Amino acid sequence: AVTVDPAGKGARIDDTMYGVFFEDINRAADGGLYAELVQNRSFEYSTVDNRAYTPLTAWTVTGSANVVNDAGRLNERNRNYLALDAGSAVTNSGYNTGVHADQGKKYDFSVWARAEKGTELTVTLHDADGTLAPARRITVRENGWAQYRTTFTATRTSSVARLTVASSKAAALDMVSLFPRDTYKGQPNGLRKDLAEKVAALKPGFVRFPGGCLVNTGSMEDYSEASNWQRARSYQWKDTIGPVEQRAVNSNVWGYHQSYGLGYYEYFRFAEDIGAMPLPVVPALVTGCGQNKAVDDPALLKRHIQDALDLIEFANGPATSTWGKVRAKMGHPKPFHLTHIEVGNEENLPVEFFDRFKQFRAAIEEKYPNITVVSNSGPDDSGSTFDTAWQLNRDAKVGMVDEHYYNSPQWFLQNNDRYDTYDRTGPKVFLGEYASQGNAFKNGLAEAAFMTGLERNADVVKLASYAPLFANEDYVQWRPDLIWFNNHASWNSANYEVQKLFMTNVGDRVVPSTATGTPSLQGPITGAVGLSTWATSAAYDDVRVTGADGTPLLSDDFSGDASKWTHTGAGSWSVQDGQYVQSDTAAENTMASAGDPSWHDYDLHVKATKKAGK
Ligand code: AHR
Repeated sequence: AVTVDPAGKGARIDDTMYGVFFEDINRAADGGLYAELVQNRSFEYSTVDNRAYTPLTAWTVTGSANVVNDAGRLNERNRNYLALDAGSAVTNSGYNTGVHADQGKKYDFSVWARAEKGTELTVTLHDADGTLAPARRITVRENGWAQYRTTFTATRTSSVARLTVASSKAAALDMVSLFPRDTYKGQPNGLRKDLAEKVAALKPGFVRFPGGCLVNTGSMEDYSEASNWQRARSYQWKDTIGPVEQRAVNSNVWGYHQSYGLGYYEYFRFAEDIGAMPLPVVPALVTGCGQNKAVDDPALLKRHIQDALDLIEFANGPATSTWGKVRAKMGHPKPFHLTHIEVGNEENLPVEFFDRFKQFRAAIEEKYPNITVVSNSGPDDSGSTFDTAWQLNRDAKVGMVDEHYYNSPQWFLQNNDRYDTYDRTGPKVFLGEYASQGNAFKNGLAEAAFMTGLERNADVVKLASYAPLFANEDYVQWRPDLIWFNNHASWNSANYEVQKLFMTNVGDRVVPSTATGTPSLQGPITGAVGLSTWATSAAYDDVRVTGADGTPLLSDDFSGDASKWTHTGAGSWSVQDGQYVQSDTAAENTMASAGDPSWHDYDLHVKATKKAGK
């Protein structure tokens, strides 16, 4: 029975409570939300990004061509270009199965070229069945680098198309681009419409970006050092703005190349377009996500702190300010209204992180006292790192701390009350990343149950976002994910529907309620827990033991009867896919009630329901 207290005053829920976290993982940016259809458009793919790459990845040459890195380059940041010999052609295979085009839609082609005046470039969009539009001819009008454009209207739909550029004479080519005209909200250098619309349909209160491990892994140095070109660097916002052909490129920690075509300007613009608060994350000079190194370089730290201040000016400064002017020149004279900035992500070295965090916070609060500087709590909630980080945050009276966790659906069911006991006088919580391990209905259900606990504690939990947001089905590094796609289609997970339900129905205030008689699945979570401990406990019933495939190994409900059960296995237990699993195949599990009491080499899966009221 549920008892509601309509007169009671529960927590107030902010409109910004639920948001999204966008990280360029699973090709969420290039080949995903960023609408560019050409892969490796500036021939910068390298073995530094991925051992399988070459500067000609996704390209095939007919005739002869070389990728060149010399003083004839387009600019200092766009190092490589293609030298195409006379009468030769180069073809791009796009992402997934190819370039996708929809019948009747327009596609804008552009290329930077340097060739003898009068050289003719022929551009075709085609698949095995022929062309998708009449070929386009471009005549080179000057001898130096210049940009050339043309537009195709697709005469039919194809997801396996190729884009070919042929040249009558020797030509240098760079930034070969094909963009759908129909981007989200028609923005130039914009976003893929179906994917952006799926995010917009959630009505997010905020967009956390650009990572994740993407932010605090790799070198913290910047691109302007020639020696850093094409080196794995942490994500730094200044690398990602300005004309796309002048932006840096980088190796993505998730094992591929990132063009930065989708950069900070585009993130801010997207947040604005969907009515969400932008929430950028900057690196704190402590690497995380397994790298665990504190960079000890005061000059570099100073530069990063200045970068954070400059970022706030880029977002909010008047169009006459140094960085506001850059924003205005990119097309947005009005400010983006930044109110929060996060420093760091999941650092494993809490003391070193906090030392740097405090310096960021002091500098930001001095210049921008109204900006909330969000801190971190480490990688997860299991262990001293997390506790130390929280203690440091509490002691320093930090305003908001980011927590992340990825756990079983069971864990989410069992931890609905996680925030009931959080200190009301301490930092507020930003639950920046969470997901139960799976995209099945039961995962969505467990997350929904957990979210009722977030909402009940909306006085402490101020922001929450599921993670990760996107996955291209052919380039997956992390699952589960909220929205799935390939080069022509996208689809929602069960988890997405749960997020949508909560995000599009954010209340104003929690109405207190209590429930009785609700069953809850509880029991040991991890660690060396003897099966008998709880199988024989009077607190549990409906104990079922199965093999990994679900085949019943014992049909009895032998709860509470210790004489029927002995467990002598030495292995430890864990939760997998919502069940307690004994995976140590060497362990011996003996069940006295079974005909053959000795089992070897079994993974035991055990389900138990806690008795009502226990
Ligand atoms: O969301 C995927 C990854 O999980 C993020 O990059 C990181 O912050 C966390 O470990």
